[in-house]
Amino acid sequence: MAARSVTAFAPGRVNVIGEHTDYNQGLALPFAIEQGVTVRATAAPGEDGAGGRIEALALDLGERDSFPLRDPGAAEGWRAFVRGAAAELAAAGARPPGALLEISGDVPRGGGLSSSAAMTVALALALLALQPDAPAAEDLRGDPLALARLCSRVENEWTGARTGLLDQLASLCGAREAALLIDFRSLVVEQVPLELAGWRFVVADSNERHSHASSGYNERREECARASELLGVESLRDARPEQLAELPAPLQERARHVVEENGRVLAATRALRDGDMPALGALLSASHASLRDLFAISTPAVEATAARLLAAGAAGARLIGGGFGGSVLALFDPATPLPAGAIAVTPGPGAHAEAG
Ligand code: GLA
Repeated sequence: MAARSVTAFAPGRVNVIGEHTDYNQGLALPFAIEQGVTVRATAAPGEDGAGGRIEALALDLGERDSFPLRDPGAAEGWRAFVRGAAAELAAAGARPPGALLEISGDVPRGGGLSSSAAMTVALALALLALQPDAPAAEDLRGDPLALARLCSRVENEWTGARTGLLDQLASLCGAREAALLIDFRSLVVEQVPLELAGWRFVVADSNERHSHASSGYNERREECARASELLGVESLRDARPEQLAELPAPLQERARHVVEENGRVLAATRALRDGDMPALGALLSASHASLRDLFAISTPAVEATAARLLAAGAAGARLIGGGFGGSVLALFDPATPLPAGAIAVTPGPGAHAEAG
């Protein structure tokens, strides 16, 4: 019998390295963080199936939404994710029931820690847990890749942000004390133990908010697609460094970032496995320089935040997420005090749902 009330939690993520590589079939090394989004879902009695309504409350914002499952309709902001999650689950045959959804969280919104993917994953898991009897719901709950793709469609189709699978996979596959080496061509996710020997990853918010739908994110994705087309490769994963000189500006710079960033992901994975934290710090700063100079997604506020962290003694710092604002990740050795505003982040478990 279906649970009448469930609580789902989905974490945000930081990406150690491998930025703007996911939609280029490249590599990334994120970890799920302890902070995330919680959705408490209560089935609305007698309103199962396509005739029901979703009532959604964004508790932190003091806002609400209400829509019929039969025709959720488009909306802006957080409401687009709720409507999209319900509609995409219905389209996948998972028959989400009418429900009250109470949404709360502790990931800063638009801060580059993947608050929107965390919300979408938590919403999807909560609605699936309310409806375990539909075979499609059962299938989705046992298949993180299929669920990540569904949640990614919510962002792509319902908010217009053409983001990849990084955030959703990191949220769904997160593990305590491990980063995830994700290969976006094979879609294999491998755990890499995060044994930091007292070193700390921290994030500091630039306090500049971004929206992937309105920032240059889609433009960068378009530029990468165009670069692949000109090089005659399926994706930039297949581009060879010596080919890049053929490309016109700024496509050459964009492609060079992606090709070299994939190499840095492998180097960072080795540094972690060898416990070589200074090498990891240097790779973070190299990634940042590439995102700023070749991929052109930094801003003065992000630069000031990275400079502040380095001046406080960080071994390396880089912007994380889509760019154009958001947070900076930095690595501190065990002895250096953390500067004001820097929050330590540690890997936490992946998304999950429980009855009650
Ligand atoms: C955002 C997107 C991801 C990824 C990163 C950049 O977080 O949602 O899919 O492209 O930007 O690495």
